[in-house]
Amino acid sequence: MVRGFWGIHGGLRRLPDTLILFGGIVDLRDWLTRAVDSVADWQASYPPFETHPSLEVSQESFLSAFDIFANRMRGNYPYFHPSYAGQMLKPPHPAAVAGYVAAMLVNPNNHALDGGKVTSELEKEAVAQLASMFGLHTHLGHLTSSGTIANLEALYVARELHPGRGVAYSAEAHYTHERMCGLLGMRGTAVETDDKGRIDLGALGQLLATGEIGTVVATTGTTGLGAIDQVHDVLAIAREHGVRVHVDAAYGGFFTLLAGAKGRAGLDPRPWRAIADCDSIVVDPHKHGLQPYGCGAVLFGDPAVGRFYAHDSPYTYFTSSELHLGEISLECSRAGAAAAALWLTFQLLPPTTDGLGQVLAASRNAALDWSELLATSDLLSTYQPPELDIVSYFPLTEAGSLSAIDAASGRILADGMNDPERPVFVSTLTVTASAFRQRHPRITRDSDRARILRSVLMKPESEIYVTWLHSRLEELAG
Ligand SMILES: Cc1ncc(COP(=O)(O)O)c(C=O)c1O
Repeated sequence: MVRGFWGIHGGLRRLPDTLILFGGIVDLRDWLTRAVDSVADWQASYPPFETHPSLEVSQESFLSAFDIFANRMRGNYPYFHPSYAGQMLKPPHPAAVAGYVAAMLVNPNNHALDGGKVTSELEKEAVAQLASMFGLHTHLGHLTSSGTIANLEALYVARELHPGRGVAYSAEAHYTHERMCGLLGMRGTAVETDDKGRIDLGALGQLLATGEIGTVVATTGTTGLGAIDQVHDVLAIAREHGVRVHVDAAYGGFFTLLAGAKGRAGLDPRPWRAIADCDSIVVDPHKHGLQPYGCGAVLFGDPAVGRFYAHDSPYTYFTSSELHLGEISLECSRAGAAAAALWLTFQLLPPTTDGLGQVLAASRNAALDWSELLATSDLLSTYQPPELDIVSYFPLTEAGSLSAIDAASGRILADGMNDPERPVFVSTLTVTASAFRQRHPRITRDSDRARILRSVLMKPESEIYVTWLHSRLEELAG
């Protein structure tokens, strides 16, 4: 197995093979024992009782079922490993795992305060940290089960505020915006993108001038390319037309920690600073916030939008006159454990430039390093420079045609993941011929679209591993 190198207190340490599990920075086994013990200790403060025999399973059948399960789980791609640079996937931080397990054993439900007595408080605190990360002066927000549901909530509020008016988003926006508009009975319009994959401001201005749009979705970190819509410009155009702005920062949101930061990982602060003046924001802690799946978040700048959620739940809202999170959420049951995991992670790696920002900076540096390596390669070329930590590139083929690039990309993807000795996992992205020619005018257009290669470098270890990734991909392209 490949040995891992991990940054500890600014230095590099070589870890024994066995510690690679979950990143190896802390011993997860120890923390899982503590998590279980802390709950057992609390439970012991209540009178003992006998569990019902209907729940009993034999140790033998548990062992055999677990064996089958563990074996099946070995069929996963190695999302934990730096050779996996495919999709937006990585294991959660050990702090998130320990927090999640400890809370899950209690299994609180953050719908109502009596169901999630402690974890609702933890959720409000963690959400306040997210709001201040974006510079919001006031906020109303909560965690959701995903970015999709968080965006649905933002669009639901958009519909209530501008009934009869539609939603505009870029052609590169996440596919669920169109789907959610359909669900909400709103007209969704995809606006063309520029040669950097950002919403085209001229086309947007023309669309908003029709008066038919009530809300624009700006994406800071598109799913395919990691492109950042110019939120400051979008906001200016939108306000001219009395249009609201929702920011889909599901993928890129935590990169706001690098806005205006010193060093090469620093990002142009303008789009990120403008987010504070937008109407709603979605960010997914289960992407760049080190959390397990089941942790999205939606934030509104104006707490008064809470009125659109008004409902009664006589069977749950009875222990407190304080805000039950279910009163401002479209979902009912939500895992209190997700809030606990995020809260505990933020205690250790807060959403600040010096905290979680360092994790993001490593990913961003990895993308910049790979981009530099690609610039001198005879075998691979950058599709467009990375704005975040997503690198897009394609094999240079003799024919120099879209169909040849498509075939070579597909072959490299398959050869890389099927190599039993030195597997490498990337992804492909299908782009249109016109988008390709916007960036590479000399390409031969013999097809309407082509697959290119794409790598999401969301593990900070990519920074150390990127030279290997590049040479491995060159080998496959050669
Ligand atoms: C920009 C963007 N928005 C929304 C989503 C949907 O988020 P989820 O998969 O958590 O539902 C994604 C997922 O990749 C995304 O990248």
